[in-house]
Amino acid sequence: MIIFGASGDLTRRKLMPALYHLAVGRLLDDGLAILGVARESMTDEQYRELMRAELVKSDGLESIDEDAWTWLAGRMWYATADFADPGTLPAIAAKLVAIEGSRSGEANHLFYLAIPPSVFPATVTNLAASALMKRTASSSERPWSRIVVEKPFGRSLESALELNALLLDRVGEHQVYRIDHYLGKEAVQNILVFRFANSIFEPLWNRQYISHVQITAAESIGVETRGKYYEEAGVVRDMFQNHLLQLLALAAMEPPIALEADAVRDEKVKVLRSIRPLVGSDGEAAAVRAQYLAAETGARGYRAEHGVAPESVTPTFAAMRIAIDNWRWKGVPFFLRSGKRMKERKSEIVVQFKSPPHMIFGGEPAGHVPPGLLTMRVQPREGIALRFQVKTPGTVHELTPGFETTPVEMDFCYQDAFGDTPSPAYETLLLDTMLGDATLFTRSDEVEMAWRVMDPLINLWSERPAPDMPTYTAGSWGPREADDLLTRELPGAQWL
Ligand code: NDP
Ligand code: BG6
Repeated sequence: MIIFGASGDLTRRKLMPALYHLAVGRLLDDGLAILGVARESMTDEQYRELMRAELVKSDGLESIDEDAWTWLAGRMWYATADFADPGTLPAIAAKLVAIEGSRSGEANHLFYLAIPPSVFPATVTNLAASALMKRTASSSERPWSRIVVEKPFGRSLESALELNALLLDRVGEHQVYRIDHYLGKEAVQNILVFRFANSIFEPLWNRQYISHVQITAAESIGVETRGKYYEEAGVVRDMFQNHLLQLLALAAMEPPIALEADAVRDEKVKVLRSIRPLVGSDGEAAAVRAQYLAAETGARGYRAEHGVAPESVTPTFAAMRIAIDNWRWKGVPFFLRSGKRMKERKSEIVVQFKSPPHMIFGGEPAGHVPPGLLTMRVQPREGIALRFQVKTPGTVHELTPGFETTPVEMDFCYQDAFGDTPSPAYETLLLDTMLGDATLFTRSDEVEMAWRVMDPLINLWSERPAPDMPTYTAGSWGPREADDLLTRELPGAQWL
């Protein structure tokens, strides 16, 4: 495994802890060797020490499993190279030859691009031109070469097309693993199981019974140390083009014919293709963007974050209505929202069912009774909750003839049911890349289609830099304009 960007935030906070936990669980092959590469000069030993220190820090481990660490550290090396410079790739190749020379058999190669998006094209070009990455005819051919590309995959449809062309010119689609770590989350995979391993809800999963769907990915943290990256990305590229559209696709897709990478991805692509253009023919979009302001709690405003321009118009929050024009979903709005520095960390999909057409209880008109809700919690407290009406216990009051009803909730929580918290997404995804299972990775047409959906909105907003962009206080649920958007699109609705 060759990690490009071996000293970066992602490698320190996600990849190394994931590899360590896989080592603790004895899930890694004994023949594994990890070569970290970045521009900073370091010896193998210094790199191992740095990774150990970061593991303790980022994973909050009180003690390290020394056996597992020794096993992993003994398989870890480091090389210095600048990926933008084709002249340095031979140094990587030479180090690989030395590592592989001490082992038997031919080596498979997993190239992991944990580098800034701006370095992707040069790295892929140079890597493709070198002899390091080899094309294989099928996923069963050995030895294999695979390339894992972090999100965001490009920064627009055009750049994603270029990047795909660059990659697919040199290797097959079956060799490319485009990561969206939301797909590695247990509760996200459970959407497939919940929908297609049960026949309870699927018959109701359509325009006849569902009023609307809300998808939220709210974060309580700000941009932390990633101000520079975030300034170039903004919330739509950072969260909507990938994570939120993936959640939407899984919630809205037709049943795939099998749990196979292409079968699942075919159905997701169909959903993305059915999304009505976000910007209408009048040049307007049912969408709101906003930026966080400082709060009395001491939380900094976005413009005061490290690496952020004082006049920045980068949105840190967005909410939008998405219409899916197909037989199942015509007329059922999907409301998506995501933001940094919101009141709490919460990612979930809420399906709101229609109210009964005629209410015979409590004299209430049907619309006044809290509707049935199905909440798929992605995090925290991964699980599923169902809200429905029950009869309020007690005898009927003379003044309000009929039964009184109360909404109650049935709640399934992974941790309560299975004890352990689900394993972090990167452990699942890393293992899948090694095993060659691409089901949880995005295919080229899927990524391109997701950009096709979001590009018009990104362009609309960049053409209108919005000096009067709505704001929200850090630690709140976002701007008032997001509430207005919801009630304008669906009178009486509220964010859940
Ligand atoms: P960082 O900026 O923290 O790390 C970048 C790494 O790449 C460093 O190791 C840097 O080391 C190396 N690097 C940069 N330029 C070159 C170059 N020309 N040649 C060789 N090495 C280079 O970025 P992140 O780790 O945060 O992000 C990496 C990728 O992962 C990005 O695509 C990001 O969008 C994605 N990602 C990150 C997440 C996170 O939580 N951090 C979450 C999801 C995705 P050096 O400067 O020494 O060369
Ligand atoms: C990443 C984004 O893809 O997802 C980050 O780049 C964001 O900005 C993160 O914080 C959220 O992931 P999670 O797993 O914490 O919900």
